[in-house]
Amino acid sequence: MSTKRGLQLDRVVLLGRTFDEYRRYFLLNPEDLVGKTMLDVASGVSSFCAEANARGIRVTSFDPIYSLTPEKIAERCEPDLQSVFRAIGSVPTYRWTYYKNPEHMRELRKRASSTFLLDYQAHPERYVSGALPKLPFADDSFDLTLVSYFLFAYQDQLSYEFHRDSILEIMRITRGEARIYPTVTFEVEPSRYRPLLRSDPALRDFEFTVIKTDFEFLLNSNSFLQVRRI
Ligand SMILES: C[S@@+](CC[C@H](N)C(=O)[O-])C[C@H]1O[C@@H](n2cnc3c(N)ncnc32)[C@H](O)[C@@H]1O
Repeated sequence: MSTKRGLQLDRVVLLGRTFDEYRRYFLLNPEDLVGKTMLDVASGVSSFCAEANARGIRVTSFDPIYSLTPEKIAERCEPDLQSVFRAIGSVPTYRWTYYKNPEHMRELRKRASSTFLLDYQAHPERYVSGALPKLPFADDSFDLTLVSYFLFAYQDQLSYEFHRDSILEIMRITRGEARIYPTVTFEVEPSRYRPLLRSDPALRDFEFTVIKTDFEFLLNSNSFLQVRRI
């Protein structure tokens, strides 16, 4: 029998969060970001890019699903949302404060994917298709790069080497800093990769700092990892 108590996902699912959720995950101050260039890596059907651009923040999104038509993406994200919605209420690793209940969470996820789908059709140039550990952008292209619910969270599906190579690539195309959220797994434990990154000679030019936030839905997810050049 499995000893796991967190949400059981056998692959990376296609869900999307809103601008307000990203703002809380990454302690963003939208006014400071106006005019800045940002990359949202593994952005999926999040509406962060659409909503940020509407506020004058120049966000580009990157995800393998952007090789698909809007119809195909809609087809794929709906069953993922349904299966998470059905499971999440009975999983003990979530704190229901920001989201009142699973229905409220589903509403926000739906709002995110609908806003994303409209923007994806209206502004295809904001959505770049590809897959980590490679990024098709020039060195130092972005002031700030974000990764939400991909690295660390999915450590059972993604190796340490994948994490290291992805972070090296993210820092190649970032002139400012990168932020990765959450720093725990779905089992609500700190990712085992975090200490390995800090002691990896390939990453000696970077410093890793855990920054506390006051947002916690997945238990212990009230922090992000900041990566900067030393
Ligand atoms: C759980 S979703 C997170 C979406 C968004 N960041 C958010 O928090 O709302 C994970 C995303 O990772 C994407 N993904 C899977 N493999 C990837 C890879 N190798 N490189 C970049 N993104 C990938 C999936 O397509 C999916 O959209």
